[in-house]
Amino acid sequence: MSAPENIGEVLFSAERIQDRVRELGDTISKDYKGTDPVLICMLRGAAIFTGDLVRSISVPLTLDFMAISNYTSGESSGAVKILKDLEESIEAREVIVVEDIVATGLTLSYLLRSLQARNPASLKVCTLLDRVVARIIDVPLAYRGFELPDVFVVGYGLDFQQHYRNLPFICTLKSETRAPEL
Ligand code: XMP
Ligand code: MG
Repeated sequence: MSAPENIGEVLFSAERIQDRVRELGDTISKDYKGTDPVLICMLRGAAIFTGDLVRSISVPLTLDFMAISNYTSGESSGAVKILKDLEESIEAREVIVVEDIVATGLTLSYLLRSLQARNPASLKVCTLLDRVVARIIDVPLAYRGFELPDVFVVGYGLDFQQHYRNLPFICTLKSETRAPEL
């Protein structure tokens, strides 16, 4: 099955995503007026979202990047590894973590503990998608794009076997059992 043929249902169109990202940017601009926050883009899934989000925020900001290993259901401890750490200190900074999707909350809860230990002035999360039905650990989400039903999705940064990140919309796949023939 070729990649385009494997696209299932479009849950969020490109236009709907762009509208929502602009709304989130406006809200963050109001909430952080007079400050200079650092946005932490969680690689790789949040890269596209972060790129659009920062351009919708009008307050001065800095951007940093972090990559952590994916939590898988086999690792019940929720422990994840930092694959790429921040370039700069977040001590005394207003920090906004930008995520593609929060599901169980295990990845984020580990990450927040690690970041909190670095003594930021504040620490908030902005996630594009929230699969709230999958939550195991309660994590505070200050900003959220869309609530997602219990389905696997790709597009707008989200991948299946590293593909589909470039789709401008978010959709399900017809089959997640084999790699796309590209
Ligand atoms: P937890 O369960 O720790 O997981 O909140 C969040 C991470 O799991 C990945 N994830 C997905 N990636 N489509 C994806 O491309 C999905 O539907 C999906 N659901 C979870 C993602 O890396 C996220 O950071
Ligand atoms: Mg991710």
